[in-house]
Amino acid sequence: MQSIEVSLDQRSYPIFIGVPEATGLALAWRSRISDASKFIVIVDSQVIDIARSTIQGLGLQTSEVAMIEVPSGEPSKSVEQMHRLWSCMASLRADRKTVIVAVGGGVIGDLAGFLAATWNRGLRFLQVPTTLLAMVDSSVGGKTGINLPEAKNVVGAFWQPSLVWIDLRSMNSLPDREYRSGLAEVVKYGVILDQEFFDWLESNADAILRRESSILEHLVVRCCELKAQVVTQDEHETTGLRAVLNYGHTFGHAIEALASYGTYLHGEAISIGMTMAGRLALALGQWDSESLNRQTRLLERFGLPVGLSLSGQAHAASDSLTPTRMLDAMRLDKKTSHGKLNFILPTKIGHVASRGDVEAALIVEAIEACQFSR
Ligand code: NAD
Ligand code: GLY
Repeated sequence: MQSIEVSLDQRSYPIFIGVPEATGLALAWRSRISDASKFIVIVDSQVIDIARSTIQGLGLQTSEVAMIEVPSGEPSKSVEQMHRLWSCMASLRADRKTVIVAVGGGVIGDLAGFLAATWNRGLRFLQVPTTLLAMVDSSVGGKTGINLPEAKNVVGAFWQPSLVWIDLRSMNSLPDREYRSGLAEVVKYGVILDQEFFDWLESNADAILRRESSILEHLVVRCCELKAQVVTQDEHETTGLRAVLNYGHTFGHAIEALASYGTYLHGEAISIGMTMAGRLALALGQWDSESLNRQTRLLERFGLPVGLSLSGQAHAASDSLTPTRMLDAMRLDKKTSHGKLNFILPTKIGHVASRGDVEAALIVEAIEACQFSR
């Protein structure tokens, strides 16, 4: 397996990526944790088989490990589910030496990570991401948390895992729509940080969609390298550097919350959000239309939406997605300070800058330009 270090002094940890040997996970955690009392595996109900083989890979006795199943889907990132998990921890007599293992996508990683951050004021935890989105983004960097009906991810903590274990075989069972959703965050890395990687995505789009193993491995490794570099330099998003990872997210989080969680997958909402942000950058004269077109073409090539849809469940939600409602929801975003919205906007492919002085009328125009376009 390849390994990438997230360098954060005492909170440093490795990300392992590839197809592991049978004993790989046991060796990896034992070299980092010497005093575990028990392991509690929090698993998405759709990936119980992956959790079972993860438990086997941990190399523990049955009495040393418990598994808690969480219903799949964004609505599980809730206060209610969190409360249930805290109660389970009490029943299982979890103590300070208990290690949490998150097996699932970003929902489980964020939820189990917040459980680890809050139980006994902090337990060690392992991230075992099973979606592309979680492999390239959410399992790395220590952002954990839950949603409120009013806004996404507003209750949470920075809490780094002890290691991230990416077994690429999990991609074999991932449904197409979920895979494509992960590709939105992949495109994001190209636009915000790495023009060469963006070019590579364009050139290898077919192989990426076929999930060819060597291509997939390169893709996950590059995204994790980029994320690790950013997190190492600005762990708690205080200098503005980590904020670049939020490209498209101010719009995207509002879409997710207003359409009710799960209508648009996270990556789908981010794809629309990046398109809105791209249009805003264009209107502000800081981006060119050819770059916006390249971004749009790549997102569409990956089967991602670049506008608010008129069809199906998403259409039923479109009444809630008026520009005025979106603006209100965006003001609840964590990037808002002193009531002012901050946007991460591209200046060229591979580079973004933060803008805090954007007129509401331009934001509305950017939203309207992406409404009902498909
Ligand atoms: P998810 O966790 O809901 O998983 C998507 C779906 O795939 C679920 O239905 C799940 O049951 C299923 N699934 C997972 N692995 C599978 C597999 N191997 N085979 C078959 N089915 C599988 O969604 P996601 O896209 O992984 O994550 C989205 C969440 O991540 C959002 O809540 C978002 O806010 C969060 N996020 C967090 C960060 C962070 O830094 N913490 C970054 C980006 C996104
Ligand atoms: N996904 C944004 C971040 O980790 O900062």
